[in-house]
Amino acid sequence: MEKTLVMLKPGVLQRRIVGEVLSRFERKGLKIVALRLLNLDRAAVETHYREHKGKDFYEKLLEYTLSGPVIALILEGENAIGMVRRLVGPTDVRESLPGTIRGDYACRTRLNIVHASDSPDSAEREIALFFKPQDIVEWKDENAPWF
Ligand code: CMP
Repeated sequence: MEKTLVMLKPGVLQRRIVGEVLSRFERKGLKIVALRLLNLDRAAVETHYREHKGKDFYEKLLEYTLSGPVIALILEGENAIGMVRRLVGPTDVRESLPGTIRGDYACRTRLNIVHASDSPDSAEREIALFFKPQDIVEWKDENAPWF
């Protein structure tokens, strides 16, 4: 089963919409297999966003990501990476449609409230950045009759 990394950026906690955002993933049927609330340090954010170093929005992106706690989680499901990206919506909020998380909750790309891995390679790298293998909890839902 595929796993992907999602990070709820500081605005999610600050706006008290953690439950609303997590419910988007849960009601789709994705499974939470790891979850952490944490304050990132600058080195961790620089590593996480290393591909954006040098871009004009880079410093502001770091500043926002360091402005409060984030929630990191691993979601599991068939084709979880692509599915989560579709639920989240495009990075550019001008293109994110209503019904997607960014479409419903973000009006600035810099403050687009969630990050989600965009490929199997980035999922593997980003999961390792936030979680140790023993933090991942494998569990079954075969007794949940609504699935
Ligand atoms: P995220 O999915 O976390 O990955 C990189 C982040 O950089 C992105 O979401 C946005 O928050 C930010 N970003 C990407 N492009 C721009 C842009 N053109 N202007 C401002 N911020 C951007």
